[in-house]
Amino acid sequence: MAAPTPLSRRFTVADLRAARSGGAKVPMLTCYDFTTARLMQDAGIPALLVGDSAANVILGHPTTLPVPLSFMVEITAAVRRGAPLAMLVADMPFGSYQGSVARGTRNVFRMVRRSGCDVVKLEAGKSQLRLVRELADAGVAVMAHLGLRPQSVNLVGGYRYQGRTAAEASQIVRLARAMEAAGAAALLIEAVPPEVGAAVVNAVGLPVIGCGAGPHCHGHVVVTHDAVGLSGSRPRFAPALGDLASPSRELYHAYADAVRTGRYPADEHQYPMEPGEAEKIDGVSVAAPARSRV
Ligand code: KIV
Repeated sequence: MAAPTPLSRRFTVADLRAARSGGAKVPMLTCYDFTTARLMQDAGIPALLVGDSAANVILGHPTTLPVPLSFMVEITAAVRRGAPLAMLVADMPFGSYQGSVARGTRNVFRMVRRSGCDVVKLEAGKSQLRLVRELADAGVAVMAHLGLRPQSVNLVGGYRYQGRTAAEASQIVRLARAMEAAGAAALLIEAVPPEVGAAVVNAVGLPVIGCGAGPHCHGHVVVTHDAVGLSGSRPRFAPALGDLASPSRELYHAYADAVRTGRYPADEHQYPMEPGEAEKIDGVSVAAPARSRV
């Protein structure tokens, strides 16, 4: 494996378009916090998605539906601080952009202004076309999310992969074309067979990020926690990059053990007092108090 190449300048939507025309594949990961964003930027990941999957992997909800816009804005801004050079895609959560173009626009402007994201992602249905048009007119880069749309879980009745039949696939392709015509800057397509990924790539001139959509997409994104073994489950399309859970558990256990056995804190963890001062503390003994084990 090649050594990581840290980013030297901001990766932009123009770079994403260039990847489409030049054939380079763009790696993208989900990210939800400052510290991880810093590590991902150091590792040379050019594009980060603050997904509403935060509802699952950060907040522990069974679906993405409950995550509030204010939370998404806050964590997106944290990721921006950690990875100022990455192209930052912010997911608009359920209920923040549906129902009214005016309210959707207002909420997207709030996300862009307060988080410093470069792109906003919307789960795209036909009813979002007016909003996408309005946002594109206002200069907002929109990534339209097609295929499996987890915010529609209650309508679909589960997380089934999409585009199983020619009719379903054609519907996705038509929507992709409509999103392009409305001014979307990029597409993301989740959980479809590779033929459907290829059909979308061939149907539009936009860069297409795949999330379980086969090898033809111009970039690929996965939920990081799934790929590094932190979420306890892994969809078929997520790569098994390793197991961060076991070493984490071991480190937490080592800490608990060090505290319980009195190995922590050791001498090197103590702040020194000025010489001769400890004995003068208000007549109180500074000898070690009795301990009991928890
Ligand atoms: O919220 C998310 O992480 C996503 C990806 C699964 C594409 O939308």
